[in-house]
Amino acid sequence: MIKVIFVCLGNICRSPMAEFIFKKMVEERGLKLSFDIDSAATSCYEVGNPVYPPAKAVLEKHGISGFHRARQITKRDVINSDYVVVMDSSNLLDVLRLTGGAFGERIFKLLSFTGEERDVADPWYSGNFDRAYEDIYEGCRCFLEYILKEKKDAIDYDLRH
Ligand code: 4NP
Repeated sequence: MIKVIFVCLGNICRSPMAEFIFKKMVEERGLKLSFDIDSAATSCYEVGNPVYPPAKAVLEKHGISGFHRARQITKRDVINSDYVVVMDSSNLLDVLRLTGGAFGERIFKLLSFTGEERDVADPWYSGNFDRAYEDIYEGCRCFLEYILKEKKDAIDYDLRH
């Protein structure tokens, strides 16, 4: 089981988009049983809220939906995850603050898997949810390719059993 948690500031736009996009990609590859995929916020601002309606609309445009309520990440989430995938540099600092600087080797910025170091375009301020979708889709696609190489033995084992 490969445990992934996507993280952003509010857990109502970028990280649930990543969670649902990545779940769909994993399902399409027939790998659902090998993954535990979740998302959470660094802040408490939106705890209990559903996906922000414009983010929900862009997901639905791409045939994706799912139940969601925002929650705040805990240190235990980081301890229990193989990959903590954040959307921007400020999320990265916030997660490291939560862990007291520990577990840095399992915390990644999503677009680092595409070979870029930039942040996911933040739709909260720009209003551009299509742009955020494109960034997140490409990040998730490259992240899955990375995991398929890095965790090849574990995935092959799951497929045989
Ligand atoms: P998210 O977007 O981090 O992608 O879920 C935001 C949601 C809420 C706020 C900021 C960004 N906020 O300031 O409440």
